[in-house]
Amino acid sequence: ACALLAGDDLAGETMLITAGPTREELDPVRYISNHSSGKMGYALARAARHRGAKVILVSGPTCLAPPPGVELVQVESARQMHEAVMACVPDCSVVIKAAAVADYRPVLRCGEKMKKSGETLTLQLEKNPDILAELGQLERRPLLVGFAAETTDLQTHAAAKLAAKNLDMIVANDVSQEGAGFNVSTNIARILYRDGRIEPLELMAKTRLAELILDRIRELLQDKR
Ligand code: CTP
Ligand code: CA
Repeated sequence: ACALLAGDDLAGETMLITAGPTREELDPVRYISNHSSGKMGYALARAARHRGAKVILVSGPTCLAPPPGVELVQVESARQMHEAVMACVPDCSVVIKAAAVADYRPVLRCGEKMKKSGETLTLQLEKNPDILAELGQLERRPLLVGFAAETTDLQTHAAAKLAAKNLDMIVANDVSQEGAGFNVSTNIARILYRDGRIEPLELMAKTRLAELILDRIRELLQDKR
């Protein structure tokens, strides 16, 4: 495809994008989750499709309408997301993990609604699979993009995740800053690359950040080929 044609610069790529929170059920009416709205992942999916990519959007529960032309795979738990991602990844040249995956799930899910009893309640949780880390170990690894939401030591934590999960880039944002992170339409991010480069970004709409991330992905894909 001609890269000069607007709307086509990602033609030929198949992108798997994860978005939203996961839900880890405790009983038929309760779950553990987080404040992810899905806005960043959906913005990425919409923009990637608009630019000609084939897009598979693996999404936890959100209030957002799926972007037109995108293949939507709806999941709830981290384990369901893991299964969906692993099934789709062999066909993908790029994976962007914008989802806020719950790190732990309840060891037991009660079949009936739990009744209250004592003054305190202790939940026992067990670790969920780290989907992105597993992708980093694949023999045929797609281009891998992670997200890191932090409240302290943003750059240190993000750099550690980039290395530990064997990523090509990670989009780090300080969710304690106003105008960044969960449930808002803007973000203040910095992008860390595998080669050590760090790109600090201004406050911008998630829709604009999505375009910028896709520009960088396209550059990395070109370098790779
Ligand atoms: N991630 C994942 N599977 C998990 C946890 C995280 O795929 N079980 C992905 C997220 O989608 C994100 C990246 O890993 O792209 C970083 O997630 P984050 O929660 O910031 O990092 P963790 O490795 O879970 O570390 P921690 O929560 O302790 O900071
Ligand atoms: Ca986590």
